[in-house]
Amino acid sequence: MSKEQIINDIETKYQQLGENPETYLKGLLHAKPINYWDYVEADTLLSLQKPRTNFKDEEIFIMYHQVTELFLKMMVHEIKQLVYEPFNETIWLEKLDRLNRYTNMLIGSFDVMKYGMNYDDYNTFRSSLTPASGFQSVTFRLIEIYCTRLENLINEDGKTRLPNNPSTADFFEHIYWKDAGLNRKTGKKVTYTYTV
Ligand code: HEM
Repeated sequence: MSKEQIINDIETKYQQLGENPETYLKGLLHAKPINYWDYVEADTLLSLQKPRTNFKDEEIFIMYHQVTELFLKMMVHEIKQLVYEPFNETIWLEKLDRLNRYTNMLIGSFDVMKYGMNYDDYNTFRSSLTPASGFQSVTFRLIEIYCTRLENLINEDGKTRLPNNPSTADFFEHIYWKDAGLNRKTGKKVTYTYTV
């Protein structure tokens, strides 16, 4: 594409937006070139590991959870496009491939947790982050809800508590993982970890 064509396209783009392209071209003239660490927010990202103990492996534990959260977000990113865009077989196959790749990476890399930390240190520093747990991962729950009907996230006990013609709110109230935090008989919260 020639330089003239690029500038033409920029002008057309902003004219179609009802904007004056010259303003944007001038802006380009003065804009600072973006660098890697500003673009990916490397400083912020690499400052997000805040261990609660002096155990060196606690930072591995934190970073691997953060890596997992980013992969789970990449999965939600793909699933949303499948859910909210019209069905297209080629696109679905491509995106299911991507979802499988991310899942395989998470499965394949879990050895980082299994063998990549000192067992005794882990069992010591783990108590310092109680009651936090991956159980509270919202991204994980989102993927569950995106990937199946709500009624499939209700266990046998939950099915006995559902009213007739349950609404979405009813299903959500009786979703399986809420059982971990709630005494369904007394309605009392059992532990802080699982309260939502
Ligand atoms: C040494 C590594 C790990 C151990 C020993 C571990 C242990 C556990 C345990 C015992 C539970 C049950 C709930 C609880 O008692 O808190 C749990 C749930 C969970 N953990 Fe981990 N975890 C580890 C790493 C991770 C990582 C890296 C993630 C990534 C985000 C993660 C995500 C989750 C999720 C989403 C649940 C809820 C699963 C469900 O409800 O089906 N865990 N984990």
